[in-house]
Amino acid sequence: MHGEALDLSRPIAFDSPEDRRAAVAFFNAAFRAEESGLRQAHELAGEVGRWDPELAECLALYGDEEGWHRQLLTQFLGWLGGEVRPMGPTTRTFYRLYGRAKRMESIVLVNLMFETIGSATYRLALRKAAHPTVRHMLTILTRDESFHVPLNVHFLRQALSRAPDARPRLRALYHATFLGLVASTAPSRRRAERFDRIPRRQLARAYAEQLARLFLDEEDLGIAPSPLLLRAFRLDRTTLLRAPSPVTLEAAERAADREDVAVTAL
Ligand SMILES: [Fe+2]
Ligand SMILES: [Fe+2]
Repeated sequence: MHGEALDLSRPIAFDSPEDRRAAVAFFNAAFRAEESGLRQAHELAGEVGRWDPELAECLALYGDEEGWHRQLLTQFLGWLGGEVRPMGPTTRTFYRLYGRAKRMESIVLVNLMFETIGSATYRLALRKAAHPTVRHMLTILTRDESFHVPLNVHFLRQALSRAPDARPRLRALYHATFLGLVASTAPSRRRAERFDRIPRRQLARAYAEQLARLFLDEEDLGIAPSPLLLRAFRLDRTTLLRAPSPVTLEAAERAADREDVAVTAL
């Protein structure tokens, strides 16, 4: 991790103060996601350590990586001419609800969904981002989150093996979080669209597709999207299944060595 640094020597120019504000808002959202991932992973590591020290170590390392992202984002926000700012009302509500989750399987599921929409947003933002340092920041985040997604599915399986009755509750949580995250594209567009140039429809569509794809093919988890949800978002199961699953062991292996990961815009 610490061998990789952002080149902050080339300044960035914005056309207007509003454009700078939008960029700062975009990366503040990323900062909050990293901070939350870091805290939850380390808390879980403490708990899991009592029954599986190796899994706990894995969680701790994963949290450390989120901590590294947070550190990079702190420098990067300064370079943008901004800083870490207090959360807006939507973000605060999200994290407050999430912070109340106490069971490992719920925490891991929500985290996994956050990672999924995070990497979808970063990949879409890569389409328009021009400055090499901005592209580097987005690439680091996309690359590492693409490993965190299957990694969290592994954590989820481990958690479910100790809480086999949790599936119906998790499925309800999955559906509620799905709707909440797709709805969150509205406030996020108000704040950040000037920077990332992702129209709301496109972002909402990407969130719905990526979140629906997650567990479509993981029968043992029992949290596949309902046919009603798929219909409501005009998603077709067969079409979704054509895209490679982001949560398999193969996906994890492809993303495990960060030197070999090719990050592409979505
Ligand atoms: Fe991260
Ligand atoms: Fe992550």
